[in-house]
Amino acid sequence: MMLKDKVAVIYGAGGAIGGAVARAFAREGAETFVTGRLRPPVEAVAEDIVSAGGSAEAAQVDALDERAVDEHLRSVIDKAGRVDISFNAVGIPDTKILGVPLVEQDVEQFSLPITTYAMSYFLTARLAARRMIANESGVIMTVTALHSRTGIPLVGGYGPAQAVKEALTRNLSAELAPHGIRVVGLRPQAMPEADTIREAFEPRAKATGMTWEQFQDSLASRTHARRLMTLAEMANVAVFMASDKASGMTGTTVNLTMGSLDD
Ligand SMILES: NC(=O)c1ccc[n+]([C@@H]2O[C@H](COP(=O)([O-])OP(=O)(O)OC[C@H]3O[C@@H](n4cnc5c(N)ncnc54)[C@H](OP(=O)(O)O)[C@@H]3O)[C@@H](O)[C@H]2O)c1
Repeated sequence: MMLKDKVAVIYGAGGAIGGAVARAFAREGAETFVTGRLRPPVEAVAEDIVSAGGSAEAAQVDALDERAVDEHLRSVIDKAGRVDISFNAVGIPDTKILGVPLVEQDVEQFSLPITTYAMSYFLTARLAARRMIANESGVIMTVTALHSRTGIPLVGGYGPAQAVKEALTRNLSAELAPHGIRVVGLRPQAMPEADTIREAFEPRAKATGMTWEQFQDSLASRTHARRLMTLAEMANVAVFMASDKASGMTGTTVNLTMGSLDD
């Protein structure tokens, strides 16, 4: 087991990526603390993990609320003694962000993803790091998208928001790696099992005239493998990156676009 006895906190664990990562971490032996904005989705993930023989505890934590994140981490330390892995998989609805050309966006719409994603990642990373520094060990992780590195129309502030998170990963690493803390990100392309990809498609459907199937085919055609990644494949990489086997990797975001984006 690659994460035996590691203590992992996952934010946005009721979502597609957070849930897949939490399940994979637990399968590899981690004690998982799954959190989300609402309790029922994270409870469902925790129940799945426990019924599969893993360890999970669910909590309602708004990952934009500094006090809630801090109090939850305090309770994790009280129960488990430390936090080894912090994974921020928070995602906000794309319907408020996508589908409107930049020249037609107002400041509020444009800045919503930038401020929300940056603030949540900053808060969860900073509060975890404060605990990890005491142990001289830990891994801080997040997930971005290829919009951070390539021009895509009608995505508003989503691309800049992903670029901010990747910059924060590098800068956190530059400060925290001397304390034994690694900071790494995952940059998957669209995984069609996630409802978010369908939601991201809808506002652009009218503009592009594509059906859902054509949209998936067009994304897949840009990968070397001519197919899109699965959540399970992404979660396997997350396990490796969180594990001590990846001790040589920090300050980077792993390109999981299967060739769609060159490094
Ligand atoms: N899915 C993909 O293929 C893909 C690919 C590349 C990048 N990404 C990015 O990865 C991230 C997650 O994607 P996803 O597909 O897993 O999205 P998702 O299924 O919508 O999950 C996001 C989760 O974050 C939760 N959340 C939102 N605001 C929160 C807050 N303030 N505090 C705590 N939890 C909060 C949501 O809870 P509620 O539903 O209760 O709001 C939801 O459970 C997004 O940034 C997305 O853009 C996704």
